[in-house]
Amino acid sequence: MERLYTAVARLEKELAISAILLQDIASRFQEAMNEGLTGGSGSLRMLPSFIGSPTGQEQGQVIAVDFGGTNVRVLLVELAGTGRSRIVARRAFPLKDKLGHYDYTAVSASGPALFDFIAGKISEIVPAGGIYPLGHTFSFPCRQQGGDQAVLISWTKEIKTAGVEGRDVGQMLQAALENRGLDRVRLQAVINDTTGTLLTAAYSDPATTIGAICGTGHNSCYLESCHPLTNRPMIVNMESGNFDGVQQTKYDILLDQASEKPGAQRLEKMVSGQYLGELVRIIISSLTAAGHIASGSESLSVPYSLPTEDISAILGDTSPGLEAVAVVAARWGITQLKVCEYKAIQTISRLVAMRSAWLVAATWAGVLTKIDPGLVRQHTIAVDGALYEKMPGYSEQLANTMMEMFGDKAKQITIRLSKDGSGIGAAIAAATVYKGKYCNER
Ligand code: BGC
Repeated sequence: MERLYTAVARLEKELAISAILLQDIASRFQEAMNEGLTGGSGSLRMLPSFIGSPTGQEQGQVIAVDFGGTNVRVLLVELAGTGRSRIVARRAFPLKDKLGHYDYTAVSASGPALFDFIAGKISEIVPAGGIYPLGHTFSFPCRQQGGDQAVLISWTKEIKTAGVEGRDVGQMLQAALENRGLDRVRLQAVINDTTGTLLTAAYSDPATTIGAICGTGHNSCYLESCHPLTNRPMIVNMESGNFDGVQQTKYDILLDQASEKPGAQRLEKMVSGQYLGELVRIIISSLTAAGHIASGSESLSVPYSLPTEDISAILGDTSPGLEAVAVVAARWGITQLKVCEYKAIQTISRLVAMRSAWLVAATWAGVLTKIDPGLVRQHTIAVDGALYEKMPGYSEQLANTMMEMFGDKAKQITIRLSKDGSGIGAAIAAATVYKGKYCNER
């Protein structure tokens, strides 16, 4: 047991982020932001969205598409014009059929077929008659030249559909709608999900300056008060999952080297739901290989066999005998451990999850120090995603880290959930562009 304690203590040292390191990461993040904004070749792309803040008065019925991964949603959203919104109709559907009837995410699928599939779902919720603005949340890195033009730089999150990278996804969706005779549905804006999250919160809370996703993927955007391209306020999609200013541990390096795109999305691989379970698996495998934890099973050697939901279940276990940890470990093929071994598994899971929160908070601290060095204004950070919403202790750790970094001034910062922000935000984005004309004119 002595050796297990020593091994866990060593891991604590490797994975913990000290107060000094937090400040250092925040400064490096700020430097990378400045470099990205001036067109440098750093790890932050700082993609302009051409969308500013909403007034809260945008109103009418708007179609929203929320395409963030293999599950897509189309919504008919009613914006009340008083900072409130309501979903009138919705369809949620996978791009990959469980029974294998279709898969629009594979390299064998084509872009036009993918967008025709989505246009078909839109046709099911558009009311008869009237013109409907459309906002499209597309949560992949895109280069934008205007609010409604977005060229996909590269797929992330394991999607491989052919003929979309390098193409304008807004145009592809509009063309698919027109082919189906739906030209009264008019694409106004293509946005990232972080932008949608920011917009949804900002619709009723003008202090919102950062939007973020802490879910399967990770990314943040912020409101640049005077963007050099337009000399007006503009939301900037930082693609912060690609930030490379954090020292990797040997476990991060192993995960990165074995991933689809080694070297890419380095922060995302340390903090997002897609990877936390895998990091825990790599660490526990190293402990079983060294004989610190008894395991008679091969299951732990299968990459991505530990879902991040299991990490949530482990962190939520407060029972003295760690029964829930034992249930999860049995699913991984390790049974009959001593309580101290279950405790080690819980400690490792907590370290990996809390490191994620520390790192994300440090990047937000970098943004806040850039846009408001003395922290004299109120700032709301709007967040969506399962890690933030469901991982025990995660949201508290984000808030505590802000306290640690800003002391008393952290009172100016509110971090809050922006539920369904990416879908409703697409509708708000479309409405901000469409303003001037009343939505749904006939
Ligand atoms: C994508 C981002 C997106 C994030 C959260 C990342 O993999 O590159 O564009 O905002 O996931 O969905």
